[in-house]
Amino acid sequence: MTKQFISFLSLLLILFSCSLTEQKTKKGLTAKAGMVVSAHPLASEVGIGILKNGGNAVDAAIAVQFALAVVYPVAGNIGGGGFMVYRSNRGESYTLDYREAAPGKAHRNMYIGENNIVIKNLSTRGQLAAGVPGVIDGMVKAYEQFGTLSWEDLIMPAIALAEDGFPLSSREALGLNNNKENFLEYNTVTPENVIRDKWKEGDIIYYKDLAETLRRIRDNGRAGFYAGKTADLIVAEMERGKGWITHKDLADYEAKWRKPVIIDYKGYKIVSMPPPSSGGIALAQLLESVEPYDLTSLGWHAVENIHLIVEAERRVYADRAAHLGDPDYYNVPAALLTDPEYNQNRMSDFDPGMATPSDEIFAGQFLTESEQTTHFSIVDNDRNAVAVTTTLNGAYGSKVFVAGAGFILNNEMDDFSIKPGFANMYGLTGGEANAIEPGKRMLSSMTPAIVAKDGKLFMVVGSPGGSTIITSVFQNIINVVDYGMGMQESVEAGRYHHQWKPDMIMFEKNTLDSITIRQLLKMGHKFYERESIGRVDAILVLADGTLEGGADPRGDDTAVGY
Ligand code: DON
Repeated sequence: MTKQFISFLSLLLILFSCSLTEQKTKKGLTAKAGMVVSAHPLASEVGIGILKNGGNAVDAAIAVQFALAVVYPVAGNIGGGGFMVYRSNRGESYTLDYREAAPGKAHRNMYIGENNIVIKNLSTRGQLAAGVPGVIDGMVKAYEQFGTLSWEDLIMPAIALAEDGFPLSSREALGLNNNKENFLEYNTVTPENVIRDKWKEGDIIYYKDLAETLRRIRDNGRAGFYAGKTADLIVAEMERGKGWITHKDLADYEAKWRKPVIIDYKGYKIVSMPPPSSGGIALAQLLESVEPYDLTSLGWHAVENIHLIVEAERRVYADRAAHLGDPDYYNVPAALLTDPEYNQNRMSDFDPGMATPSDEIFAGQFLTESEQTTHFSIVDNDRNAVAVTTTLNGAYGSKVFVAGAGFILNNEMDDFSIKPGFANMYGLTGGEANAIEPGKRMLSSMTPAIVAKDGKLFMVVGSPGGSTIITSVFQNIINVVDYGMGMQESVEAGRYHHQWKPDMIMFEKNTLDSITIRQLLKMGHKFYERESIGRVDAILVLADGTLEGGADPRGDDTAVGY
């Protein structure tokens, strides 16, 4: 099996450039047996290799998570965290939280300096920005529960890629070139393998130290990361760079199975991530807010439709800022927030002709209770499905490679509310619910989601994009459910986003025409144009049971099927 994989990987390196061109059409790749859609063609091929060798969707997801840590270090990782949503072909669903946790020494004022001012870059760059990584315990827990192939088989493809090298795409070369200064500034030991005068497309990059780390994880499982040499290297990195993660923090980290958020929308059943992600709850709130309206007859991207959705988004993100945080530390009013009646009441002051200024929208009150990530979607031959969104937070996370271990540490601490009302790198604010506490997990927007219809798998979807993840997933669900789009068509369709504050509609270039924008301006909306929003990788089950991939052309994302 292992040898097979290695020769299979050499073949991939040859096929690499060809597969990039195939996905840029409106009709997605179709396949009968299984499919993987991820941010990197080599990672998608690794996943398909696992499926073809008899692995299930969870086996493939584990292998893809490891492969992305090598070939897509801008977001793929073992030094960060993520969320996995799994739906078995029997309709049971499971959600795994392997989000990073604050170190034991962390406290709510750790990024605040003199005169109560937030210290620039402290929560986003360097060793102190890192939370305790969750990926390895997440993969181990997913494997223990659902894995079928050997653990070694799932890691070997990643080790081969790290050891033997692989060619960079032009986007990846640019990413490394643009971050060269950051890598030099924030590393106490220069990560020589990623530093070059200028990387260009097709250059081969090697991650030898990472290969060694992956071998320790292959041989020792959880202890290959949270104990022994890898843990020593992480702690030494912290000591050199004034970070706070200790051996105890690493030993104490636990990924957790959580109770999924289940959403009913127009006869579809959607399963997504509960807190510490805001994704599932916010997605439920958005869908419940718009369900009473006939979106189809309002028309896709029509003025009335955008207005309605933006007004729902404004209210939902106000709730996110006030009510959502790690449920192990804060009493999240999940049942109330996802009650359809609550969300329809929230829309009762919605004015179809006029925008409501965000300053007039406050989080709902309850009487009883208080850009880089990556997503991949997998469906196997038995129609088990996995949606994983995983991240270092910003591009290349904290920019810090653990010296000698070859992987990048996250900068996820910035997802906490580091000061009440202070906007994080996605413009999101928060308060008590998401304040820093030792061991607590920072609130996320990641929204891996699986949709079923009549008890059968219908769609697997998710995206990166910080605060815009929730609205990207929401738009792709309504694109397919309410507007009958195919998967690739939906993924390519233009996106827009509102998050309460700042009070503006962000929209992708060439998405809204000038007449639509003018009409919405008259209604009191403000606009901000962005190059792109999100990178959705999704799979749709067509009426005849065939799978259609949706691979986002905004990146190198690739669907591979068989
Ligand atoms: O968990 C979150 O919500 C963020 N850390 C995700 C970051 C992200 O999506 C960056 N991508 N563009």
